Amino acid sequence: VIMNPTFSMYSVCTVRAGGVPIYVDLQPDFSLDLEGVLEACPDASLVFLCSPNNPTGNQFDTDDILRIVGETPGMVLLDEAYVEFADSSLVSLPLKYDNVVVLRTMSKAFGLASLRVGYCIASEDVAFQLRERLQLPYPVSSVAVATAQRMLKWRKVVLEACSRLSQTRARFLSLLAEVQGVSAFDSQANFVLMDCNTPSASVVSRMRERGYLLRDIGTACGYRNLVRVTVPPPESLDSVVAALREVVD
Ligand SMILES: Cc1ncc(COP(=O)(O)O)c(C=O)c1O
Repeated sequence: VIMNPTFSMYSVCTVRAGGVPIYVDLQPDFSLDLEGVLEACPDASLVFLCSPNNPTGNQFDTDDILRIVGETPGMVLLDEAYVEFADSSLVSLPLKYDNVVVLRTMSKAFGLASLRVGYCIASEDVAFQLRERLQLPYPVSSVAVATAQRMLKWRKVVLEACSRLSQTRARFLSLLAEVQGVSAFDSQANFVLMDCNTPSASVVSRMRERGYLLRDIGTACGYRNLVRVTVPPPESLDSVVAALREVVD
């Protein structure tokens, strides 16, 4: 079961693994359609939940997640790729529930995307099964592991930077609230999703001309011109917002 919209790789990987995705749309406020998900669960071996969700930026309600965990006959994969930018985490769920695996990555807060290092938190039994039955031998290079371990020593510094980013995100959101033609959604990630009154493809290409790369998300949950923008560094907030003012009608 895959939410819509969410990180596109869940579909790609499901299909590659011979599975058939069942999509459930998020609600207009990007919360889970709990009844829709619970209805789809009996037919599914895996439910993907991305929280904070890419591209919407919100975290899902903990009670909704717990209902899904409690009622689905299969596994729940909780992707916390962006959780270092959020207020809370459900990283301890696998201690209590055997059917939850939490995914984390070094690609976002730790900035090591090209190194291809991530990890999962699972119950002892599930971790054993993943290691012995699914994981290929030598999955990560020793250079990548050594670099990731080194970065973990800087965890405190990285988390401080994440907390500065969330302050910048709050300022960014309040500046965006003043831009006519843009409605930006609250976010717990290092990006913000906004719906524009101008075709999203045009917003993206006109921002590109001004040196800013945004992601065209297009249509979802009843919105028509969704664009995802990374939270800019504090010194660029004003110029990014000024550029946006120029490109929306
Ligand atoms: C929700 C989510 N999970 C995982 C990833 C990818 O992480 P990795 O670089 O570890 O494959 C991304 C990257 O965009 C993402 O948005």
